[in-house]
Amino acid sequence: MAGELSRAGPSPGGFKARLDRGGEKERQWIRPDTPSKCTWKLGKPLSASPHHHAETSPLPPLWWKCWKAGCARAVPVCSVPCCCCSLSALCAFAVAGIGLALAAAVKGYRCIIVMPEKMSMEKVDVLRALGAEIVRTPTTARFDSPESHVGVAWRLKNEIPNAHILDQYRNASNPLTHYDTTAEEILQQCDGKVDMVVATAGTGGTITGISRKLKEKCPGCKIIGVDPEGSILAEPEELNKTDKTMYEVEGIGYDFVPTVLDRSTVDQWYKSNDEESFALARMMIREEGLLCGGSSGSAMSVAVKAAKELKEGQRCVVICPDSIRNYMSKFLSDKWMIQKGFMKEEDLGNKPWWWNISIQELSLSAPLTVLPTVTCAKTVEILREKGFDQVPVVDESGVILGMVTLGNMLSSLLAGKVKPSDEVRKVIYKQFQQINLKDNLGKLSHILEIDHFALVVHEQIQYHTDGSSSKRQMVFGIVTAIDLLNFVTARERERKSN
Ligand SMILES: Cc1ncc(COP(=O)(O)O)c(C=O)c1O
Repeated sequence: MAGELSRAGPSPGGFKARLDRGGEKERQWIRPDTPSKCTWKLGKPLSASPHHHAETSPLPPLWWKCWKAGCARAVPVCSVPCCCCSLSALCAFAVAGIGLALAAAVKGYRCIIVMPEKMSMEKVDVLRALGAEIVRTPTTARFDSPESHVGVAWRLKNEIPNAHILDQYRNASNPLTHYDTTAEEILQQCDGKVDMVVATAGTGGTITGISRKLKEKCPGCKIIGVDPEGSILAEPEELNKTDKTMYEVEGIGYDFVPTVLDRSTVDQWYKSNDEESFALARMMIREEGLLCGGSSGSAMSVAVKAAKELKEGQRCVVICPDSIRNYMSKFLSDKWMIQKGFMKEEDLGNKPWWWNISIQELSLSAPLTVLPTVTCAKTVEILREKGFDQVPVVDESGVILGMVTLGNMLSSLLAGKVKPSDEVRKVIYKQFQQINLKDNLGKLSHILEIDHFALVVHEQIQYHTDGSSSKRQMVFGIVTAIDLLNFVTARERERKSN
């Protein structure tokens, strides 16, 4: 995430036009991987250190959880017996963009957050609520391409008067904050005795700040860096070899080494992966009540491996950088986990008797469809008469164009966006779920947890005069929760009476 702040100025969205013309200009930017000018060196006397050493007053205890051996043994990814050291999770829940948007809201600055598409909608919604403007960039864009989040942030900065780029990849305050606060907190709460710290790296601010302070004050402490497969931050270089180009865990790993990441203070790197990260995050939530995000799972998935080298009584601190709040629609959702292949339906435990019955078995009424040329007034009349809330819109050849729902149509009519005499094609709605006639009722029940209905389709193969063929999706019907409930209750009644 690259944050951009300017004093409240041009109208929101005003930057878009300038952005379009911006491509003609020569690019002005500072790479986020420029060599660091920081003069910090391990072993330098503190008086010569560039870091300031603010005295911190004792902090209120954070939520510390001790993961003893018994708990770690239950970790599914960890098949070898675990150590008997204690694993403690330090929860430091904040995301840079949200912190910036919050400060900008209070100070009255205009705040533009440039973030890759991969970032969750929960982050976008919180940022929007804080008044930030959001610009999404392609997740796959290389960091040095003009369309990456870094590239777009620089373009905006160059085009908006009085704009500043906070540049978390180069900003020295990023690791310093962790040097002065997070690391001090760890030392305070562990009475200065820490044997291992496990932390993920995104910008690298967290791991650099913590490891520099610990190397100074607790020299024996081993620093373990966690980098996802598909990223290139780990050392040695061979660790980064993979076919993976994409991973789902947010906030960690990059395709460049940020200026603020000082890899000389990391003793050993481990690679993490999505499967283990999400499994561990869900386990920490379920068994420890730690409402953490996916990258906390990445850190813990590595910690349970790395901490095996520790002896009884030694301490391993695991940094949990983010909370569950940002991922409610992602790894917290069984549906998302199944869709992404991180969980199987079978993992959800016992299924009800109707789960694997196909949709074909439901007695759905004959499909009612309307042509796109039917007027809104006529469609409302048809829906009222038939007692339906929605109807598919299909063309003359039966191909599905979308849906019209009573609610959607009425709100467009009431808002004056359409007139009753307009054709329904103007209010077609495409955000609906389709399900195949051969899919099972289990899949349908997942859809109906979120949507009011699903469009039941079946595929037809159509042969053309030239001998070629094409597949077309045809409407078979609409299915709602009432259809599923009627089916289940009727069959249950039959089963009881037999
Ligand atoms: C969810 C999440 N995890 C981990 C990190 C990594 O922290 P750092 O950038 O300090 O390396 C970030 C950074 O923004 C993050 O958002």
